[in-house]
Amino acid sequence: MRRTSIQKAVIPVAGLGTRFLPATKATPKEMLPVVDKPALQYVVEEACRAGLDDILMVTGRNKRPLEDHFDRNWELEEALERKGDATRLSRVRESASMGDVHYVRQGDPLGLGHAVLCAAPHVGNEPFAVLLGDDLIDPRDPLLTRMSEVHQRFGGSVVALMEVPAEQIGLYGCAATAPTDVEDIVRVSDLVEKPDPRTAPSNYAVIGRYILDPGIFDVLRTLLPGRGGEIQLTDALQQLAQSTSAGPVHGVVFTGRRYDTGDRADYLRTVVRLAAEHQELGQDFRAWLRTYVLDSMPADDLDELSTVLVA
Ligand code: UTP
Repeated sequence: MRRTSIQKAVIPVAGLGTRFLPATKATPKEMLPVVDKPALQYVVEEACRAGLDDILMVTGRNKRPLEDHFDRNWELEEALERKGDATRLSRVRESASMGDVHYVRQGDPLGLGHAVLCAAPHVGNEPFAVLLGDDLIDPRDPLLTRMSEVHQRFGGSVVALMEVPAEQIGLYGCAATAPTDVEDIVRVSDLVEKPDPRTAPSNYAVIGRYILDPGIFDVLRTLLPGRGGEIQLTDALQQLAQSTSAGPVHGVVFTGRRYDTGDRADYLRTVVRLAAEHQELGQDFRAWLRTYVLDSMPADDLDELSTVLVA
């Protein structure tokens, strides 16, 4: 069983982003700004922090802005240099020096499983990480590092799980699990994509971080389209979980901060939260937000709030 340390990260960014139309008509949703950086930059930073500096992006029709963002921009750099604007210059250069970034085209967006299969020639026969480009994990909660530790101990594949309210489980892949002797690690025995909440095997939702055994590629090659007519990564993982050929599947139960920027409401919450915590902007933004909330709150709610605060 392979227990080598992970070096390669695959970031699929070829989805259509239909939940965010029309903003995503000509711009990949992963490039939408979260305060002052595209969502995808947070994900690449996370991969680099976890020591994964060989990064493959699986891109689609709008790959230009992605490639440009992670490349040098001489014109802009020269203009900032002329102005003596060292701070902005270093910010602009930062995203061009984040690991070794490669690209592969998915062609048709046939599903997340298909996007991962497009990475096979680059990944080869070694375990690798997959990070979804619109799913942000707070840097204070080093999920990938924990998943790598679990992979080192058990081999096979590791998924990230988060408990969600029962009525929301139908929005996610869902895992049937058994406990292990470690509190935040479970053994995954089955997986189902977007189950009916009434028959879902648990409240454990699969979120956008994976460490995968390369045996997943053989499964993906023969996998038929599943839910929504897409080649589902969850279905391939289900096959791995139910056979022993490519090792077990474990889950890390994550209780930290996660931001789903592919969903409009969650995107807005993410921007507000990260803006409020931002080193430069946070103080002024929090003051404005406080006034805005108090001014826009109906009198009854304000009374209720002051009762809660006094109690
Ligand atoms: P999502 O299901 O969130 O992406 O896939 P989507 O299909 O673009 O979103 P909506 O539902 O239409 O708004 C999770 C990740 O997998 C990528 C997406 O770019 C996203 O980062 N993906 C999805 C691909 O790369 N290729 C695909 O065929 C599907």
